[in-house]
This record gives sequence, structure tokens and C-alpha cells, in this order.
Amino acid sequence: MALSTEVVKKDFPILDHQTHGKRLVYLDSAASSQKPSAVLDAMQHYYETTHANVHRGVYGIAEEATRLYEQARGKCARFIGAPSERGIVFTKNVTEAMNLVAHSWGRANLAAGDAILLTEIEHHANLVPWLMLKEERGIELRFIPMAEDYSLDLTDLDRLIDGVKLVSVTAMSNVLGTLPPLRRLADAAHAAGALFMVDGAQYVPHLPTDVAELGCDFFGFTGHKMLGPTGIGVLWAREELLEAMPAFLGGGEMIRDVRLDGWTPNEIPWKFEAGTPPIAEAVGLGAAIDYLGGLGMDAVREHEVALTAYALRTLTERYGDGISIYGPSEPAQRGGVVSFNYKDVHPHDLSQVLDEAGVCVRAGHHCAKPLMRRLGVGATARASFYVYNDEADVDALADALAEADRLFTF
Ligand SMILES: Cc1ncc(COP(=O)(O)O)c(C=O)c1O
Repeated sequence: MALSTEVVKKDFPILDHQTHGKRLVYLDSAASSQKPSAVLDAMQHYYETTHANVHRGVYGIAEEATRLYEQARGKCARFIGAPSERGIVFTKNVTEAMNLVAHSWGRANLAAGDAILLTEIEHHANLVPWLMLKEERGIELRFIPMAEDYSLDLTDLDRLIDGVKLVSVTAMSNVLGTLPPLRRLADAAHAAGALFMVDGAQYVPHLPTDVAELGCDFFGFTGHKMLGPTGIGVLWAREELLEAMPAFLGGGEMIRDVRLDGWTPNEIPWKFEAGTPPIAEAVGLGAAIDYLGGLGMDAVREHEVALTAYALRTLTERYGDGISIYGPSEPAQRGGVVSFNYKDVHPHDLSQVLDEAGVCVRAGHHCAKPLMRRLGVGATARASFYVYNDEADVDALADALAEADRLFTF
């Protein structure tokens, strides 16, 4: 069933609020999404009725808190097509998920001279952990370049992938909206004897996801971009990989036994969940998954393709050569983020002017500095869409750009 933004908007209390006396037009969901009442209520209810620490207490509410926490793990597994919930590790965010793989699997499996393959369009979360390992271990980083049409240029893939131990790519660029061909890259990685890791931060919130179908070995995503709370993310990995990987952080929860002369690790996934985990956040993420499931991820995707098409059409029709849009031109082959520069107005100035009109967009390098350099810009403005956005929001953006014109062009 098609998604009705009129109905969906009512589920998001923040959209009733005004900013600078104007209707809030929130176009920054790629940075962090807003939260429906279902998520806020689930967390409130949990704290009001159930909160206690998990996996410890043998009393009613502690057991119920543990049940809810583990139930959320199951919901995450089903939402991304993971074969079992034992492969689901709760982290702080996707950044921590990528760091977990770099620290644990990377340090156990990569030595000086070993190579891994990334892309030029990665977010820093899938770049800096590997640059750190390069400094520490002397590993080699290779990069699939961006093509002129903002897709990945796979012309040289055979040479680049030869001998690498890991291929790690974003499932969707947070700057361009590019959707790399994940299955093709997974097959190429496996044929080369490498593992395949995916940064699903911008993908899981917007497209139906099946890690098994995509051929992933590691897959990370983050709760706050998919209607859930901040402070929770997920690393999914094949169970055999997690079993073989050394623990990342040490402390409570992640041990089976501790003596003064040593320790033994807990089973997966708890081996990787040191200390008190984000319990209320897991409950909130579970509620977000239920909410998205209720909308249907096919309907979410369909809605965003249509809205992105409308945005690309509206902005180019109204502003022509005055606006430079960075990303694939075909809406069905991209996600709902539209990065642009407008005339010679700096994106930060632009964002401030749009804010006065109630329109929230992100301005800056979007944690993708190498990509900014490749695009030949220091920063872009970025409008990003989600389930609560509609054509009126795009029109508000387009109208507010006219105001920037008035202020900044002489
Ligand atoms: C593609 C991509 N990867 C990783 C991240 C990092 O997400 P988090 O800050 O939740 O770890 C982001 C956030 O913008 C992103 O867009």
C-alpha cells in the first residue's frame, strides 16, 4: 500500500512544532531522523514500568528488561534478513560497529602488506578506522574510484581486488545517494578470497534489506537514522566470524569467568557487549522497526524514489544552471539525499537562510572529506528525505532558495 505522508506526519510530535515561527520542514534525516510517538512511548513505558539492568537480576522486572532487550535483537535480525540473532551485536552506533571489525577482526587478521579495498565515496566511519590500522600495521588501502556519473567506476575492479583480504563499502552514499552494486561486489570479493563488509547506515532506514541475499559477511547500521533513538547501532556478522574474533572491549557482561590471572569470554553476541548495554534504546529501536514494518519497506522506498524524482525535477526546473546537484540523475538508482551547491553561496550561509524559512538542511563536508576533494568542493548543502516528507517540503526548500538569491546575489 502506498505511504500516506498526511497520516505519517501525525505520528511525529516534533513536526507540530515551529521553528522561527515557521512550519518545521525537516530535510536532514540522513544526519538523524525524527522519532514517532510509538518509539517515544515505548521508551517512556519501559522506564516507567520495567527498567532494571539486564542479564543480572533474578527478579521480575530485571527478567522482563532482559526479555525486551533480547526481543529487540530478534527484531533487528529479522529486519535485515540475518539468519540468526546470535550474529547481532548491539553497539553505540554504526561507527562503533565498523571500529569493532577493524579492531577485532582487523588486528587478528591483517599484517603489514595486507590490502583491503574501500571506495572513494565512503563516510569517515568506514575510512578512519582503516587509516588507523594502516598507520599501526602498515596495511595497504585501495579505493574504487567514483565515475563521472557518481556511480562507482568498476573498470579496474579485477586489478584492485586482487589479493585483498576485505572489501568494505557503503550501501548508499550519504552525500550522493549512490547505491553501489552490492551483490556484484560481494561476489567479486568472495571470488578473490576476501570478506565483504557493508556500511548500511543510509540503506537500512530506506530500502528492504537482506544481508544474506546481498552476500555480506559484516554489516553495520545505526538506530537514530531509522526512527530509533541515538546511542544504539548494530553490527551483524556471520556467526563463525564472530566466534573466531577476539573481544573488543573488556569488562562486565562479556565474560564467562574472571580470575586474578585471567578470563574467558562469554558466548556471542554478548562477548562483544561489554558493560551495561543501551537497554531502553534497544526497546526504542525495536519499536522503530515495528513502525517501519507497519509502513512496509517497499512502500518507504517507493515514496522516497517519487519524492527524490520530484525534488530533482523541481530544483533543476526552477534554478537550472544556478544549482549544481551531485549524484546520479536517475531517481530509481539512488537514495533520497540531494547534495547541491547554489550559485556561489556558501552552503553554511545557505543553510542559515533556509533555516529562517523553517527549512532544515545539512551543510558541510558530511564526514566525507575525500569525496568532497574528489568533487572539487569544500562543502555542499544536503536535503534528505524520509517517510514524513512530502512535495510541500520540497516546494518549501525551493521557495527558500529564492530568498537566498535575494540576499546573496547582487
Ligand atoms: C554512510 C554513513 N556511514 C556511517 C555514518 C555514521 O553514523 P553514526 O554517527 O550513527 O555512527 C553515517 C552518518 O552520517 C553515514 O551516513
